[in-house]
Amino acid sequence: MSGRRPLISGNWKMNLTHLDAINLVQKLSYSLADATRRVDVSVHPPFTALRSVQTILDVDDVPIALGAQNVHWQAGGAYTGEISPAMLAKLNVRYVIVGHSERRQLFGETDEDVNKKVKAVLAAGMVPILCVGETLGEREEGRTAEKVLGQLRAGLSGLDSAAIAGMVVAYEPIWAIGTGRTATPDDAQAVCAAVRRAIAADAGEAAAASVRIQYGGSVKAGNIAELMSGSDIDGALVGGASLDPEEFTAIVSYR
Ligand code: 13P
Repeated sequence: MSGRRPLISGNWKMNLTHLDAINLVQKLSYSLADATRRVDVSVHPPFTALRSVQTILDVDDVPIALGAQNVHWQAGGAYTGEISPAMLAKLNVRYVIVGHSERRQLFGETDEDVNKKVKAVLAAGMVPILCVGETLGEREEGRTAEKVLGQLRAGLSGLDSAAIAGMVVAYEPIWAIGTGRTATPDDAQAVCAAVRRAIAADAGEAAAASVRIQYGGSVKAGNIAELMSGSDIDGALVGGASLDPEEFTAIVSYR
């Protein structure tokens, strides 16, 4: 067993009005009370629901961390439609997903953008969840490591070891997202181990030993325990199943 505390994160993506979000987080605040003693949990509502969810978590001291799905790297100014790191930090957002494959594929985020976002999140005192992952074509061509480690190194470029040590990396194979197809536990573990080895080589053993690595892609109650048995898998980034309170509770309660 590593000393790393597991982190299971629910990425709600573009789902739930603020009223639906209140409903979901109220259910989770009861159903996760026991499991959050053993596992860190974050929920990542859309921006429009952050304030409502924050209020519920803060008022009752619920041990679920608030997360965001995206951020802009600028501190402020003429960037219509964007949200700054300080705006999130002021809402007690702790974790910010950066470089999700949907942002990269659908909204044209580059490795350079992702690196600026990682730095901006850290500068605002929050924890980036840096997402990396290969397409099916890249996997079939044997280019998984090249793609994943390329995104990793670009995303972490210019960061010192201490900053990397406190971060989260999410390995999400794109072909497993929302498809019901999960990486096998061995494949997921192999890529997560390669991520940790790359961090050890670039930032030192201490950073590698403490960075948390999540797996994401069709995580369900029925496959979480097997995935979490991988020694380099420290948690999960859950999409669809995080919208169902019973299923997400079962995932978080995997042990
Ligand atoms: P699914 O769990 O719906 O496959 O989504 C994974 C994901 O993209 C989480 O960020």
